[in-house]
Amino acid sequence: MKESPEATVRGQRDERLEEVLRPSTLEAFVGQPRIKERLAVLVEAAQRRQEPLPHLLFSGPPGLGKTTLAHILAKEMGANLRLTSGPTLERAADLAGLLSGLEPGDILFVDEIHRLSRAVEEYLYPAMEDFRIDIVIDQGPAARSVCLSLPHFSLFGATTRAGMLTAPLRGRFGLVNRVEYYGAEDLVRVVRRSSRILGVETVESGAWEIARRSRGTPRLANNLIRWVRDYAAVRAAGEEISESVVHHALEMLDIDADGLDEMDKKLLETIIYKFEGGPVGLGTLAVAVGEDAGTIEEVHEPYLILEGFLQRTPQGRVATRRAYEKLGLSAERGKNDQSELF
Ligand SMILES: Nc1ncnc2c1ncn2[C@@H]1O[C@H](COP(=O)(O)OP(=O)(O)O)[C@@H](O)[C@H]1O
Ligand SMILES: [Mg+2]
Repeated sequence: MKESPEATVRGQRDERLEEVLRPSTLEAFVGQPRIKERLAVLVEAAQRRQEPLPHLLFSGPPGLGKTTLAHILAKEMGANLRLTSGPTLERAADLAGLLSGLEPGDILFVDEIHRLSRAVEEYLYPAMEDFRIDIVIDQGPAARSVCLSLPHFSLFGATTRAGMLTAPLRGRFGLVNRVEYYGAEDLVRVVRRSSRILGVETVESGAWEIARRSRGTPRLANNLIRWVRDYAAVRAAGEEISESVVHHALEMLDIDADGLDEMDKKLLETIIYKFEGGPVGLGTLAVAVGEDAGTIEEVHEPYLILEGFLQRTPQGRVATRRAYEKLGLSAERGKNDQSELF
């Protein structure tokens, strides 16, 4: 099936592109200064002691650099990075297989760690804490469990849903790193860097225009650059990538000036049209838009709140004046005259 241009650009991933554009050192990693400082300290301390890094958790919305940081740390430590993910580890035996194959200092990266099954998660506890696991050998009546000690390794977990982690699992991480949405200035740096790597000539105003529409997300900025490059090649041959080229290119994708994605817009529309602007409870809202409540809360809302489209109140979610304006409505009219809105 051929992907629509929108599907190739919107939030999701192109592994090849990500690999090319992924910064490989902490210096090249844009933004997130607090996290970088802390990680630099951890790396230096671990190197001095010649020990592996502590177990680290990376949390935050998709596309903000969690996996990238794991790769960078592995490189700085000269360690192997073994990648797996919560949903892939179906049984404790899957995890046992991985753990028993680790070498000293290896980093085991578990993406979407909030999706580990309870049994697998519990199997992980002694591995993280005491570097040992119980494995069952032999079958039938001769079956018995033996304790296997593991080399000292580091477990890195990544999650978009920190709230779904159990307290015992969270407590076993030495440090929790919460990646934040990027400001426009940092995104401009991402755009400049990626443009250089891809050989795309972007003028300053064009870089800013891409940055403003990237929803605070480097992955999206990179995807937009690629789309704009293709657009420019076909529709604006020879032109450098200026603000107006970016504007036209992104118009074709229905990406608005604020870079909101489909679900962001649907949430605002639903609150305003179906719930009179709110307040509406998270559970009700989730049913109305057909999305998981936790995903709304941890992936979509933070950006809408950051940008002033939405407020969380004790009574529920409320659309702000800015949200009404975005939909071309005035807040007064939205509240008082619902009939015109349907
Ligand atoms: N701080 C950053 N500086 C430069 N590029 C970044 C940064 N964070 C993310 N990226 C880019 O965005 C892409 C997605 O990042 P990734 O680490 O896969 O996000 P996550 O794992 O949080 O979903 C990377 O391939 C990289 O090119
Ligand atoms: Mg990732």
